[in-house]
Amino acid sequence: MTQRIKILPKHIAFIMDGNGRWATKRGLARYYGHKEGIKAVERTMLGCKNFGIEYCTFFAFSTENWRRGEDEINGIFELLRDYLNQNKDFFIKNQIKVNYIGVLDPFPEDLKSALLSIVDKTKNIEGLTVTFALNYGGRDDIIRAVNKLLQNNTKQTNEKDFLAILDTKDMPEPDFVVRTSGEQRISNFLLFQMAYSELYFPKIYWPSFNERQLEKCLLEYQKRNRRFGGVNK
Ligand code: FPP
Repeated sequence: MTQRIKILPKHIAFIMDGNGRWATKRGLARYYGHKEGIKAVERTMLGCKNFGIEYCTFFAFSTENWRRGEDEINGIFELLRDYLNQNKDFFIKNQIKVNYIGVLDPFPEDLKSALLSIVDKTKNIEGLTVTFALNYGGRDDIIRAVNKLLQNNTKQTNEKDFLAILDTKDMPEPDFVVRTSGEQRISNFLLFQMAYSELYFPKIYWPSFNERQLEKCLLEYQKRNRRFGGVNK
């Protein structure tokens, strides 16, 4: 299967949309869409590992997701906390380094400690780096970076230095951004970092995403002609 993929993105980022609709279509509460969504995250991490991708990032909770009902928000936090607590060995066994972007302060302590413990346990792993975007917003990332510059009395900056103070400082810009569910929006994800990303919007709900779907995305990516504002040589 992997033979057909010749050009890989170094960094692939996912906007995991459609959990709620997946559940509603089955007569289930939205919670179950998120529950299945986590299984899709696990399949996708393993798929990325198998294909040899170096970085993958998942938009797990945005700065705007606080507008959802309290029950749904708490459901997502519980699912995430339980998943992280129960799967510490999964990340070690599969040699996956875990990272996060966003501001963790408003999250419950048990979720923060579950996440930070995995980040710490996997910090020396080389191979696939998985980043969870949590309470992350592209605008918020930019504003926090600007405030860092102001606090340091920096008078001038440039693109390279600015990238180095964003949450994503330790990873390359995403080559490929995939948003499931058919919606074609960026929804305040990695705004500055996405300037030249290839975008793809497969029409399936996130809980149905699997390695086969990932392969389809990668086949699409290698068809793209990335010029970065230049012309074909
Ligand atoms: C959008 O679907 C999805 C989210 C808000 C993310 C949900 C979080 C997870 C799947 C948990 C992530 C897990 C890990 C391990 C990072 P939606 O609810 O907006 O779907 P809808 O548009 O159909 O309502």
